[in-house]
Amino acid sequence: MAQQKAVVLPKAKGDWLVDTVPVYTPGPGEILVKVHACALNPVDWKIQAYEIYINKFPAVHGVDIAGTVEALGEGVTGFAKGDRVLTQGVINEITHGGFQQYTLSNADVTAKIPDNISFDQASTVPLGLATAVINLYSAGLALTPPWADGGAGKYAGKPIVVFAGASSVGQYVIQVAKLSGFGPIITTASPHNAAYLQGLGATHVLDRALSGDALRAAVKQITSAPIEVVFDAVSGADTQNVGYELLAPDGTMVIVLANAVPEAKQTKDRKIQSVFANVNVPQNRALGRSLYAQLTGLLETGAIKPNRVEVLPNGLHGIILGLAKLREGVSNVKLVGHPQETA
Ligand SMILES: NC(=O)c1ccc[n+]([C@@H]2O[C@H](COP(=O)([O-])OP(=O)(O)OC[C@H]3O[C@@H](n4cnc5c(N)ncnc54)[C@H](OP(=O)(O)O)[C@@H]3O)[C@@H](O)[C@H]2O)c1
Repeated sequence: MAQQKAVVLPKAKGDWLVDTVPVYTPGPGEILVKVHACALNPVDWKIQAYEIYINKFPAVHGVDIAGTVEALGEGVTGFAKGDRVLTQGVINEITHGGFQQYTLSNADVTAKIPDNISFDQASTVPLGLATAVINLYSAGLALTPPWADGGAGKYAGKPIVVFAGASSVGQYVIQVAKLSGFGPIITTASPHNAAYLQGLGATHVLDRALSGDALRAAVKQITSAPIEVVFDAVSGADTQNVGYELLAPDGTMVIVLANAVPEAKQTKDRKIQSVFANVNVPQNRALGRSLYAQLTGLLETGAIKPNRVEVLPNGLHGIILGLAKLREGVSNVKLVGHPQETA
């Protein structure tokens, strides 16, 4: 059986190590992808540090994947060996993780990478975009996606407030909100990221250091329309509480971590929503399929721009160091590993 190198988590709370695992055989509906770039996400270090999401060991993680088609499973059409593709990995499935040289992907949630986008850029897209799209266009909010009939620009005149616009997730929220017509698109970030976020579609960038009172006052000055959607892409207790206070009756606040708004403060009419943002799972698959059917075009036209990239040196070994670096925190950049460059 062919072998490959992978970043492996041998047991819960174990140490990441570069080890050898088999190259998998694609089953029906699957593609074997040679991984050229995989982006790192906060969840990658959290699964090891907090023992979350993974209960099968050894584990290979990594959900942001870009590479080339190596082999097709039964029934897969529309792809050929050598095609450049991007896809989202499946948490807790060693066969579908990005931190290895070859992985399986589900063909219906895999898209071709257009020529204007590099593997590195493409690898920054899957999880961040899925988090934006699943929260806005399914789950509780269930808005019409901008690529569906009547969806483009549908929410014109509706404000949205996005906490942590410079985060990977925040950048995709801003961009899909723009495609959906939301306006004003108000976000919070460090001032040095303001111009960049305006380039993505934010209409107003507020300093993340503002106090809750100052932030609420600034939002009021920008718009008198009710704030029916708040997307907290960082979801600390501080931002969640300010975000919840901004919400109009019948509004929804999306959070990406555990709910930190005290129960006593919550009212029935103002909802708090969080999802497991993976397009592979059954509850998200249909929306994921519709997204991936449009994704090549969205990237080709620049409607969706990938995150900025910092490439980690030393192949899979660099990913292990990258996980520690990500835990320290990054600003407006996605760390990306190159599994093929493993010595
Ligand atoms: N539930 C899910 O399925 C799901 C999916 C994806 C992500 N997540 C979670 O979502 C969070 C974000 O992930 P990510 O990959 O997007 O993060 P990231 O790109 O690593 O986030 C870094 C950015 O966060 C911004 N930031 C941090 N604290 C902030 C604050 N108080 N106010 C405004 N901006 C702040 C910083 O902005 P500046 O540089 O401007 O200072 C920085 O650029 C993580 O906790 C992750 O685990 C959950």
